[in-house]
Amino acid sequence: MKSQWSSRFTFIMATTGAAVGLGNIWKFPYMAGENGGGLFVLFYLIAVALIGIPTMMAEILIGRLGRHNPVNTLELVATHAGKTPQWKLLGWWGALGLVLVLSFYSVIAGWSIGYLLKAWFGEFNGLSAHQVQVLWQHFLSNPYTLILWHTLFMSITLWVVARGVKQGLERAANIMMPGLFFVLIILLIYSIFVGDFKAAFNFLLMPNFKEISASALIYALGHAFFTLAIGAGAMLVYGAYLPKDTKLGSSVCIIAALDVLVALFSGLAIFSLVFKYGLPPEGGPGLMFKVLPIAFAQMPAGQWFGGLFFLLLWFAAWTSSISMAEPLVVLLVERRGLTRNRASFLIGLLCWFLGLFALLSFNAWENIRILGFTIFEVMADTTTNIILPIGGILFAYFAGWVIAPKDAKHGLLMENPFLFKLWQWLVRYLAPIGILFSFIYGLWPF
Ligand code: PFF
Repeated sequence: MKSQWSSRFTFIMATTGAAVGLGNIWKFPYMAGENGGGLFVLFYLIAVALIGIPTMMAEILIGRLGRHNPVNTLELVATHAGKTPQWKLLGWWGALGLVLVLSFYSVIAGWSIGYLLKAWFGEFNGLSAHQVQVLWQHFLSNPYTLILWHTLFMSITLWVVARGVKQGLERAANIMMPGLFFVLIILLIYSIFVGDFKAAFNFLLMPNFKEISASALIYALGHAFFTLAIGAGAMLVYGAYLPKDTKLGSSVCIIAALDVLVALFSGLAIFSLVFKYGLPPEGGPGLMFKVLPIAFAQMPAGQWFGGLFFLLLWFAAWTSSISMAEPLVVLLVERRGLTRNRASFLIGLLCWFLGLFALLSFNAWENIRILGFTIFEVMADTTTNIILPIGGILFAYFAGWVIAPKDAKHGLLMENPFLFKLWQWLVRYLAPIGILFSFIYGLWPF
């Protein structure tokens, strides 16, 4: 592949753009709310530090060594190491995950476009907490407008990917990521003064060990993978574009730290308002949309601020969805010889179509259940809790056992032998065993 990030800073911004998205701002708060708060957050932080960071390094390393789409890269790097080319199946597994994530992700990102317009046109002005809930129900019940936003979001995502990464993506990430932090900090300050910050702090950061549950463990791990964008090949492709002299260890730690900070900031901001208005923390996927407009309805210039917030949410989702589509498009371009435009169109169409199933499960198909779950829940949960963690185990295993240690060291640009050994130990033992353990524990029926 010829493309390359312009600098280490750009790589960090683009990769942070992939990592920071709906997972941090929309999903993390409601997952924490549904899974008992502090203990979930603790598991999540441990999972990010001990399993997420080394696995992300592993995935980026593989990309850097292969410099192609995930399937070809795994085939190439495995063959180079004298192992079976069938490792390419891992690339297909990741591609399946990316297709499913992108499909439902675009639906939720579409909500942020709808809410952006609502904020800007002042629809929240003066509404009570109850009226905000009603507005949300109303919004969700109309599939046609949701399809419009979903279509728009999918189109702009694939439009950027079709134009090539460097132009659109680099620029968007460089501007939007600092902007997102800025708005989030203002929102946090606002909620400290206006909301019930103490209750939010206790809820999110004070683990209650009495509430320990097996499912919280697997959800926390799955969420760590989702939010760091690992286990599906997105990071692999971003690693393929790395400039030669970028060190992986420190860059990945910065990316993970930014990612965690965004999640914690938005969790604190949202729960301060949840508790202040006496709403239940288990608000599910709609939590953010039912809570933040209450604040926007009441704060000075809330119309503009709310608009800005949903705009940035949209951009955060956009940079993430681009990272999902890019590997799929490159896969078609490199393996099927399609042009970028054509490949982007086909991927967009496929994911748009699958996304409709997720979309309708919030309204017309609300009552269709598979083992008690809606179609959206099946798509979101299987990717997050099964496909990404299994992909993660295998990427970690591949980097730890398949790639020759001297190639790994070279690819990571890690001079410190102790740190290299530590990373090697984490990807060889802790990551695979930890993921397997939480699987068995989390899926155990008793
Ligand atoms: N990390 C993104 C988020 O937190 O919203 C989601 C994501 C991006 C998942 C890319 C998977 C992926 F490959």
